[in-house]
Amino acid sequence: MSNSPQIVTTVAELRHRVTALREDDSRVGLVPTMGALHAGHLSLVKEIQKHVDVVVVSIFVNPAQFAPNEDFDRYPRALMADAEKLGASGETDLIFAPSVGEMYPPGFATNIDVGGPAVGLESETRPHFFAGVATVVAKLLLAALPDVAMFGEKDYQQLLVIRRLVADLGLNVEILGAPIIRERDGLAMSSRNAYLAEGDRKVAGQLNVVLQSLIAELRDVSPISDVEDNGKRALLAAGFKTVDYLTVRDAETLAPLATLDRPARLLAAATVGNTRLIDNMAV
Ligand code: PAF
Repeated sequence: MSNSPQIVTTVAELRHRVTALREDDSRVGLVPTMGALHAGHLSLVKEIQKHVDVVVVSIFVNPAQFAPNEDFDRYPRALMADAEKLGASGETDLIFAPSVGEMYPPGFATNIDVGGPAVGLESETRPHFFAGVATVVAKLLLAALPDVAMFGEKDYQQLLVIRRLVADLGLNVEILGAPIIRERDGLAMSSRNAYLAEGDRKVAGQLNVVLQSLIAELRDVSPISDVEDNGKRALLAAGFKTVDYLTVRDAETLAPLATLDRPARLLAAATVGNTRLIDNMAV
């Protein structure tokens, strides 16, 4: 455990430092992030520390998961502030902050295309997204060779895609999910919340309020599609500009559900102003 984590920027340095930190039986944990760290990220770091002896946090704004019309250029970047936060919370041993050239050197031509849980939902609006995530996560896992990697349930579909990726490629790492950390009004923490204008910020809090009310409604109202339609109407009435999806799915496969006969997940994506928000909760 260290109070001022060292920052390494190359895969070679990362491997060298992880090997030096790894004692005989010690376990290494990786928390992949895109930086602009908030309490949600810090909770992942705190949580993984319970499972491992050495904690590595990666900070890399991955161009491969942004479409040309998305916010890659304006995505918040704050490496030194992030390092300070990780130092202050005291659980991180090493920060891996590679350049784009280190992760995608000239001639890079590989893209990992995941099916199964990657189909639908986020992929409808962001068809490039999961291939970009899967490719970079595979590269980060192969670079750090952790025993455990931790991802937030805020990106629930992403978590399932990464589990599928790891199982299908036979990567020797345990993938753990950690609960969503929320603002006081229920808004799930996200680096993109910084984009919300003042009026939009109030509306944004309603996403969680509506989802919570639907969880209660799901107990009494059927079919499920009626509850989904009510939810979409409630979000539009609350001030959301568009609702990309609001749906109840099988919690493990994300297959559509007609009845609540197995563990389910309520997932939604909606836009307020120019900001697209996602949220989900267990049913
Ligand atoms: O969830 C994120 O921050 C990113 O998608 C991840 C997993 C770090 C890959 O770039």
